[in-house]
Parts: sequence; structure tokens; C-alpha cells
Amino acid sequence: MATEPAPLKEPADAAPETLATGVEPLVRFDKVVKRYGDHVVLDELDFTVRRGEHVTLIGPSGSGKTTILRLLMTLEKVSDGVIWVDGSPLTHVRTPSGSLKPAGDKELRESRKKIGMVFQQFNLFPNMKVLQNITEAPVHVLGMDRDEAEARARELLDMVGLSGKVDAHPSQLSGGQQQRVAIARALAMRPEILLLDEVTSALDPELVAGVLELLSDIARNTDITMLCVTHEMNFARDVSEKVLMFDAGRVVESGTPEKIFSDPEHERTREFLSAVL
Ligand SMILES: Nc1ncnc2c1ncn2[C@@H]1O[C@H](COP(=O)(O)OP(=O)(O)O)[C@@H](O)[C@H]1O
Ligand SMILES: [Mg+2]
Repeated sequence: MATEPAPLKEPADAAPETLATGVEPLVRFDKVVKRYGDHVVLDELDFTVRRGEHVTLIGPSGSGKTTILRLLMTLEKVSDGVIWVDGSPLTHVRTPSGSLKPAGDKELRESRKKIGMVFQQFNLFPNMKVLQNITEAPVHVLGMDRDEAEARARELLDMVGLSGKVDAHPSQLSGGQQQRVAIARALAMRPEILLLDEVTSALDPELVAGVLELLSDIARNTDITMLCVTHEMNFARDVSEKVLMFDAGRVVESGTPEKIFSDPEHERTREFLSAVL
């Protein structure tokens, strides 16, 4: 900790959280703004996620949930504000004078190694077999030895129940199987943080439960921090310790799933929940 320079600008919510636990949150959005042209998608957004926490993001379509995950995955750049991961700026680098400047592509590639993402539409590499889909990033991004990457990929395929599909192409798999491969692919990078963006929304109804069960197992049996956008409220209740309700790029309210789903404070949350439950 002694080598960690103090942030230039203490985020507004730093004091209580740091004092209470003595531990810096793993993820901190500090007045994050995201604009597309004149359209303000995230409006000085502040929130934190503790290490090991499982957080569910809910809110109406267009409220900015995917944007939050894409910013964390460094697939998009912030317009203003800073995202901190493990006490370091994800989106910025420190200059010798101690100020922050936006990170370049090289730094962003480095930051991205800690974080894995699973998308609604699977996004597997269609021209690669299942095994290669999983080994590609460990070999080319982490520089892992190919044999080691393949051994790890086989273990992960076994874990997601697809050891028989090593040589299949994605087009030969069901949606549920493709999503299991996508989950294995994300885990192959040994991420500290796993981002899940409506990962069961594109699946046939009978395939949803199996994928949710796999994710519950991951939540229970690993120490990976999870941020999960989902409309599966039972799943959210089972796996998450915290729910954040978004509207128009801001947190409307946050709390335990019991609190948010059973006794929400805000009219906006009540309206949203009555539409999806
Ligand atoms: N690449 C983009 N260009 C312009 N507007 C975008 C882009 N990506 C997202 N948006 C806009 O940002 C808002 C939030 O989108 P999104 O984060 O996808 O919301 P959610 O996931 O909560 O449905 C929407 O109004 C959407 O149209
Ligand atoms: Mg979305």
C-alpha cells in the first residue's frame, strides 16, 4: 500500500467505505460520464464493487447497463471521470507529475487482462473450433504455452459440461452450448472480474436454467467478482449480494436483493419491477 500514490481527487464516497473496511473497493466508478455526441448516456456515475462481490445491474432498456460493462471491458472510452480497478486507474495512466491522462491502446490491452466479459449474442469466433476459441486469448494475449492453454481449455470444457465438443464449430452448437463455451473462454483468462451482459436473453427458454446454474456454481465456487446485467430476478436473488437499479445513466437505488425486490424505495424501481416480474 505504501507505494500506491494517493489519488489526485478523492472520490466523494471514498471516506466512509475505506474507513469502514480499510479496503479499497475493487471497482470504483468516479463521476464517470459517457456521451455519444450530445446524448449523455452516463451522467457523473458513482458506484463501487468490493472484491468478491456479486452485483446485479437492473434497469430499463437504454439506461446504460451495457455501456457500464463495455467501459469496464475497455471496449469504450469514458468521456469524463475515472474508473478505478484495484486502486489503479483503468482508463488513465499517471504522468510523472502525478496527474492522470487517458490511457493508450497498449495500457488498455494490459488493463483488459483482469476482466472477462460474456455477451448476450455469445460472440464466439465462428471460424475456430471450440478448443481454439478458448485457447486463442491465453496464447496470444497472455503468452501462455499452447499445451498449457489446451489443457486448461479441456478442464474448463469439462466444467461447463462440453468435453465432447472440443472439435465442434460454434455453428454446430445450440445457443446454450455456445454460451457455455463463451463462459469457458472468459474464465480461461483467469479474470478477477467477470462481466455478464444478459447472457441468457438470446437463449431458448429450456436452455436458460442450465446456463444460470453454471453461473451460480461459478459464483459459489470461485472468488471472481461478478457484475451481472440480467432480468432473471430469481437468479439475481440467489447469487448477488447487491442490486443496483439504474435509470438514465444514474443509480436510482441500491441494496440487497431482498430489499430492492421486496421493498424498493423509489417509484421508478417499483415501476420497473412490476414490468419485469
Ligand atoms: N455506440 C453507440 N452510439 C450511440 N449511442 C449509443 C451507443 N451505444 C449505446 N448508445 C446509447 O446509449 C444508451 C444506453 O445504452 P445501453 O448501455 O446499451 O443501455 P442498456 O444496456 O441499459 O439497455 C442508449 O440510449 C443507446 O442508444
Ligand atoms: Mg444492454
